[in-house]
Amino acid sequence: MKIAVLPGDGIGTEVTAEAVKVLKAAIGTDYSLDLQEAPIGGAGLDAEGTALPPRTLELARNSDAILLGGTGVIEDERRPPLEGAGNGLLRLRRALTLYANLRPVVLLPELLDASTLKPEVVKGVDMLIIRELNGDLYFGEPRGISTDESGERFGINTMRYSESEIRRIAHFAFKAARARRGKLCSVDKSNVLETMALWREIVIEVGREYPDVELRHLYIDAASMALIRDPRQFDVIVTGNVFGDILSDAAAMLAGSIGMLPSASLGPGKLGLYEPVHGTAPDIAGRNIANPLAAVLSAAMMLRHSFDMDDRACLIEQAVRNVLRDGHRTIDLCRAGEKSIGTREMGDAVVDAALRLRRDGLPAS
Ligand code: IPM
Ligand code: MG
Repeated sequence: MKIAVLPGDGIGTEVTAEAVKVLKAAIGTDYSLDLQEAPIGGAGLDAEGTALPPRTLELARNSDAILLGGTGVIEDERRPPLEGAGNGLLRLRRALTLYANLRPVVLLPELLDASTLKPEVVKGVDMLIIRELNGDLYFGEPRGISTDESGERFGINTMRYSESEIRRIAHFAFKAARARRGKLCSVDKSNVLETMALWREIVIEVGREYPDVELRHLYIDAASMALIRDPRQFDVIVTGNVFGDILSDAAAMLAGSIGMLPSASLGPGKLGLYEPVHGTAPDIAGRNIANPLAAVLSAAMMLRHSFDMDDRACLIEQAVRNVLRDGHRTIDLCRAGEKSIGTREMGDAVVDAALRLRRDGLPAS
């Protein structure tokens, strides 16, 4: 199992270390794990002057899976977007054609009280946000800041999707919905944007091949509200790169904390990129307080999608639930007065729980 480990920046390095610990505990000596680390993001800029060093891309390309922490540093706020640390991640996603970003949003029953939303609204939330990852404003040309004839500067980005890009993510989403509760909601802004009108047209066309999947459409503004008002109506959501970025952060609060949200970025083959949704949180980096569970759950997704090890993925997920059931909480999950544990301690607790499950077996459910 050849895995590229790209911790990146900020809390990315801290949570990735815990995910690796848990991965090793879940696999044991049953398979041989070949973990190779390389810099990306700010770490790439520091080490080699680029956010995606060529050797990092090569390593990623030649691995079975990529486990990533996060990219982004404070200095990015004063740099042009294409020169920032986050751009390393965007280039990696695109270079490997990882176009389907799966962001499951599940409220574990153990965390019913952790959300800022009322328990009766979020109880049982279990949805999958599928974000297109290779197109849209993120990559469309032309882009940049220029000066017009009058000498005034203007900025330009291009929302662009080709038919084939829409079609491949639509197929992906319909298949995912088919494997779940059979409901797909496509989120667009087709009342205002031509790109999104095409999006809707193609999604409807692809939908004819999946008559067993119930398809509906929401505009992004209405979808944002529906997500908070009545999140349980959603099974699978499919949307573009920009809307998906925003919606998934908002949806994080349905799961109690963004520290609980894993993701998988998949392409045409088995190679996948697995990373927590939360990013690098420079404000809390280096303090051993970040929640490592999103990274740990991303490792579980890796076992499921890149290695077909559903049993080990379930083992990690169950270990996480057991730890939460036993009352362990990082600070992001604590209510006022509750005691918190650190990043490493949370990782250790999951390792213990995983080892116990390997010994005793998973509970039947
Ligand atoms: C995410 C992040 C990234 C994105 C950043 C770090 C470039 O916010 O994965 O959601 O915008 O895609
Ligand atoms: Mg984001």
